[in-house]
Amino acid sequence: MSEDTILYEDSDYKWIMFSFDDEEHEDRFLSLNQYLIISKGSALLIDPGSDEIFEELYAAVARHIDPKKIKLIFLSHQDPDVAGSITHWSVATQAKFVISKIWTRFMSHYGLVDMERLVALEDKGAKLSFGSSVLHFIPAHFLHSPGNFTLYDEKSKILFSGDIGAAVLPPWDVYKEVEDFDKHLPFLEGFHQRYMAGNLFCKKWVSAVRKYEIEQMAPQHGALFKKEELEMFLAWFDNLECGGDIL
Ligand SMILES: [Fe+2]
Ligand SMILES: [Fe+2]
Repeated sequence: MSEDTILYEDSDYKWIMFSFDDEEHEDRFLSLNQYLIISKGSALLIDPGSDEIFEELYAAVARHIDPKKIKLIFLSHQDPDVAGSITHWSVATQAKFVISKIWTRFMSHYGLVDMERLVALEDKGAKLSFGSSVLHFIPAHFLHSPGNFTLYDEKSKILFSGDIGAAVLPPWDVYKEVEDFDKHLPFLEGFHQRYMAGNLFCKKWVSAVRKYEIEQMAPQHGALFKKEELEMFLAWFDNLECGGDIL
């Protein structure tokens, strides 16, 4: 069962986070976070995840809006825990799927038939008006996927960071928001050292996102980062040796 958390809300704009438990691997807890933005009667869904959670996520979305009103589905990269359910969503909605241009051709391997439904993001990223806000697709290539984007929302000032900031929490201590960065660090370290390609990429992304005023950072796995914890994360990630640096 997913849990719904409202991350932002005003009269015409809403961000909802859905969190799913990875019940198959109870010793190593990898929560899956999906996000839904609703504005002016339309919705945008972020990283819908695998086949396995499709029905539950569909029901969770339906608690907030008719899923047929999802106009866009953003896929930060190609992984199965991000895009595995693309075929289900292509049948259940009329939505377009926004993903890096280097991954569009691979979506047929998840069973997607109508390739016209894909919107290919150029490497440099893009800006898009959605409802009463503007969204920025910020390049985050090689963090970890070679065609990878994070998403900044001007209105809510939320930065969706995909696998950047992802944490594998111990099942006996699962929390929604990072309150003690030092305590959280061991749950970030191994994942980022192994999955992220190298410090050059980390530095580039950190300098790109520092241009925005960020209220909270929302990763695809694990807990939210706000204020000081976000600053501590960015400082840590900016200097992280990972991937090729420690080969
Ligand atoms: Fe991934
Ligand atoms: Fe992931």
